[in-house]
Amino acid sequence: MPKFYITTPIYYVNGLPHIGHAYTTLAADTIARFRRLKGDEVLFVTGTDENSQKNFEAAAQKGETDLKKYLDEMSGRWRETWDELDITNDDFVRTTEERHIETVLAFFDKVNKRGDIYKGVYEGLYCDGCEAFLTDKDLIEGKCQFHLKEPRKISEENYFFRLTNYRGALLKHIEENPNFIRPEKRKSEVINYINTLNDISISRPNLKCGIPFPLDKTHGIYVWFDALINYLTAVGYGRDEEMYKKWWPADIHLMAKDILKFHAVIWPAMLLSANLPLPKTVYAHGFFTINGEKMSKSIGNVLDPVELAKIYPLDAIRYFLLREIKFGEDGDFSLVHLKEHYNNDLANDFGNLLHRTLSMTEQYCGGVVPEHSGEAEGLDPLCEIDVWKDYETAMNDYHFDEAIGTIWQLVQESNKLIEKEKPWQLVKENSKRLNDVLYNLLETLRQISWLLLPLMPETSEKIWTQLGLDVAQEKANSLEQAQVWGGLKSGNKISKGEPIFPKII
Ligand code: MSP
Repeated sequence: MPKFYITTPIYYVNGLPHIGHAYTTLAADTIARFRRLKGDEVLFVTGTDENSQKNFEAAAQKGETDLKKYLDEMSGRWRETWDELDITNDDFVRTTEERHIETVLAFFDKVNKRGDIYKGVYEGLYCDGCEAFLTDKDLIEGKCQFHLKEPRKISEENYFFRLTNYRGALLKHIEENPNFIRPEKRKSEVINYINTLNDISISRPNLKCGIPFPLDKTHGIYVWFDALINYLTAVGYGRDEEMYKKWWPADIHLMAKDILKFHAVIWPAMLLSANLPLPKTVYAHGFFTINGEKMSKSIGNVLDPVELAKIYPLDAIRYFLLREIKFGEDGDFSLVHLKEHYNNDLANDFGNLLHRTLSMTEQYCGGVVPEHSGEAEGLDPLCEIDVWKDYETAMNDYHFDEAIGTIWQLVQESNKLIEKEKPWQLVKENSKRLNDVLYNLLETLRQISWLLLPLMPETSEKIWTQLGLDVAQEKANSLEQAQVWGGLKSGNKISKGEPIFPKII
């Protein structure tokens, strides 16, 4: 069985998840569900980045002196959020876990034995927000472009990693593996960075939190060096050789563009140093604003996905994020647009199609999927349209908006067909045609339920229930089976429920 290993960043726990974090995690969840649908064995991992000065400061700010208690509580809240959002991650890595520390030490040992760690003095700029050393090139008007703050000037004795040793190998890898950095347009910024990079400091003096530096216990391992290794922790590196061999390298590391250089340069160089294979793809999606403004606590526009899910069905949020923000591009999120798209696309276009078709089946066919002649004349493009090919191409390429677009084409064609065929007249004049029309509409809805499965999983299950299909049985179905036109059997009792997406005023 093909395998697929996908990761999200592990998030800092100095705050709770907002819609930006949820975006990456929902996208990863969609990919994981799609690969499962295709029959792959999937390992989908997320987690929390806990050995960070930021977390330490957040705990102190809350007056919490027991750091472990703070981290346990906050990490727990992140885990709960993903559960509430029905995220299907298979593992959740915490960087304070014993298994992670073991993996980090095993990895560190390899890099050290390779001769890639040395002691030196770091003099330069440091952004506390990024927890990273910056150069002038990273600044806009003297400030960090992501945190809009001037970095601090520091001078300290540190241990360094010989990143410069891997410059050539990294450039060669990028050139030879066109899928390594995606989307394509992100490549040039990575290449520019590689061309000018220096060795990086991987220890922090005055350890308040974090994993003690193996060569000098007065230092801690730099948080990014430790955090990136979480991707190996989840596959048992240094602890479970069989598991490691099964899952590594990762198929895709997903993140936003803010942390691409860590994933596309520093992490691969660390792996090269430890003589381990590189992830197949590092995918950096865009950043989105809220009503045109950066999300920030001070502006007060931080959106909590769990609160949002109390107003809109989860699938509506998934739909909006995945369709309206082109994956890979920057975008904007606004509640006004969410509501508009919810009412137009989901309540109207899709909801009406489902509800009308089921109502007519109840009214004209006694609530039973009608017999049909198999004649499709005039009923295409429904049964002849091949959305699956376009859909799979789009999904394989992470073009979620296009995948949803192909499904909505089907929704629109179906609605047009109802208007054209007018079942309310056919019932008086031509029952054979009526049955064919309704069968085609119902079977199209079944096809749509499968197309939607990775994107809007709750909706798929609701459609199955309303079509009178057994949810457990459907779940056990293979995609090959499900894709065959005609899977919905005549005589099946439908079960029209309430509209899935009631209008929101
Ligand atoms: N802890 C590091 C990651 C270590 S991974 C080895 C970190 N954490 S973070 O909590 O700051 O998360 C950053 C990530 O959150 C982004 O890369 C992105 O995945 C997600 N996003 C946060 N805000 C976002 C937007 N406004 N828009 C899109 N993604 C957003 O960095």
